[in-house]
Formats: sequence, structure tokens, C-alpha cells
Amino acid sequence: MKILVEKDYDMMSKAAGQIIKEEIAKKPNIVLGLATGSTPEGMYKELIRMHKEEELDFSKVVTFNLDEYVGLDGDHPNSYRYFMNDIFFNHININIKNTHVPNGKAEDLGQYCKTYDEIIQEAGGVDIQILGIGENGHVAFNEPDEALSVGTSIVKLTESTIQANSRFFDSIEDVPKTAITMGIGSILKAKKIILLANGKNKAKAIKELLKGDKVSTQMPASFLLLHPDVTIIVDEDAYKG
Ligand code: GLP
Repeated sequence: MKILVEKDYDMMSKAAGQIIKEEIAKKPNIVLGLATGSTPEGMYKELIRMHKEEELDFSKVVTFNLDEYVGLDGDHPNSYRYFMNDIFFNHININIKNTHVPNGKAEDLGQYCKTYDEIIQEAGGVDIQILGIGENGHVAFNEPDEALSVGTSIVKLTESTIQANSRFFDSIEDVPKTAITMGIGSILKAKKIILLANGKNKAKAIKELLKGDKVSTQMPASFLLLHPDVTIIVDEDAYKG
């Protein structure tokens, strides 16, 4: 596990953008695993800047998002599909057909989850997976629990995640209670993983992760310790607390 400590959020975002830019240069039809949340927003802004000012080309890039709320349509302003279109896809030259965000309104959600993992593999698997981390150590929507799903599945959100994500909704009652998420096994299949964290509220989770001595389903991010190519990019606040 490699750790890069950047001065602030801006530098963290630039460092992540730079890695992605270099990887797209090596493989223009790269498969990117993408995350939502406020953490990667700066990285998306940086990639948009690189597209506009440095001709970074997304025309052959394929993307798969980690998760989506169950019950929200892609045009609902709080859905992750809406978020991705709004803050990233609509500003670059990506073919929207090459972008995948789980469908929170799929009729048969169980079958849909299986299919999602299959289409990722059919596309060649994720080359670089971007991850954020929850304050409780969750990755995507894999919440601390007695057991974690290997593949994409439907999960119940914990009170702490509902609380943390309620800032994006009009009221806490509007936050969906369940979500579709790629599983820990789906995430670990990526060839390379970049986890981003900024701010003091992430320091506890980052400290726990950097201890690096054990994996626990109560700390879902700890499973990243089993992956051979993980880079953690943090700002000083997330590193020092
Ligand atoms: C959300 C998302 C995660 C994200 C995390 C942290 O619940 N499902 O993918 O990494 O919470 O979000 P933020 O970056 O806003 O702190």
C-alpha cells in the first residue's frame, strides 16, 4: 500500500487527476471505476480542466460507478447517475453509452446485481478504481457488518451513513435506506486502486487503515490491504487528524 500525503484538498485532487491522465495516455480505452461523494469532486474538476486545456481525450474511456441508491431514477437530483452526469460526464467528451451507474430502479434487483459484475468483466475488468472512504470505514456502500458481500449486492445503509449523506437531501427522511453497491470482491478485482480521503473527519478511518495489520468486516476498507496495487492519497488533515 502506497501513501501520498498532499498539503490540501486541491493538491490531493490534482495528484489523483495526474495519475488518471497518465494511465489514459497509456491506454485510451481504459476502464475506470468511479466513485461519488464530495471527496472525488475536485479530481473530476481537474480532469475536466485537463480535457479542456490539455486535450485529455475520454472518447474511448469506459466507466463503472460503484453504487447507487435503490429507488431513485437517474434523473433524480440525488441519484448518483445524476451526480456523475452533472459534475463530470456532461463536461467531457465521453460517450455516455460507455458510462455505467447501477440502476436503482431495476425490476429484479438481485439479477441486476449479478449482471452488473458480469458486464464489468466483459468490458475487460476495471483498470483503475477510484474510492472514497466513509467515516466508519465503509467503501462504496459496503458498511461495517458481520459479513460483507463479495459481489455487487443490495445493502441496508447504517444510521451513520444516512446521517452523513443527509446533507445532500432536503431532510433525513428523504435519504434512501438501501443501495446497490459493488462488493468488496468486485472492488478487489480492479488492477489498480486509488483511495482518496480529505478532512479531519476521515482521519480516524485512515489511521485504522494505515495500521495495516488486520482485515475486519467491521472496517470494510481494511480489505484493501489484500490488494497488490493500492495508492492512498490524503490531505494533511486526513493524515494527521
Ligand atoms: C458515500 C458513498 C461512498 C463515499 C462515501 C464518502 O456513502 N457511497 O462511495 O466514498 O460515502 O463520501 P464523501 O466523499 O462525501 O465523504
